[in-house]
Amino acid sequence: MAKPGKTELIAAAAAARKRAVARYSNFKVGAALLTTAGEIITGANVESASYGLTCCAERVALFKALTEGHKCFTAVAVVTRFAGGAMPCGACRQLLAEYAPTAMVFVADSARLKNIRTFRVSALLPGAFKKF
Ligand code: THU
Repeated sequence: MAKPGKTELIAAAAAARKRAVARYSNFKVGAALLTTAGEIITGANVESASYGLTCCAERVALFKALTEGHKCFTAVAVVTRFAGGAMPCGACRQLLAEYAPTAMVFVADSARLKNIRTFRVSALLPGAFKKF
């Protein structure tokens, strides 16, 4: 079996988005990470009545993947219902820079999944803090 490509990864993020728990913003986000082994790990945003406790889809996916033993990632897809798709927030960029530094980032609007914008994690947070 061929490893999933960006179309499959975007489809996985779109499916994950449907499981978002976005009861305050109603802004549903799905994310899907692709491991070097070709596995896909997904996540969606989860919100809290104490708004600051909300966790983005990208971090839910990343924390799931890392705590399930996955260490190497080649790509992450992010899907939202927003023109052109929404970019990962600064906090997620930091975590991605640390744990998926060589990954590609695919972003799409859930209403136009074929229109995929492509970035590199390394370009999204120049000078990321990694060592102390
Ligand atoms: N959100 C994400 O899940 N990922 C992002 O990159 C940006 C924002 C979520 C957090 C919150 O639940 C909602 O979108 C509105 O900010």
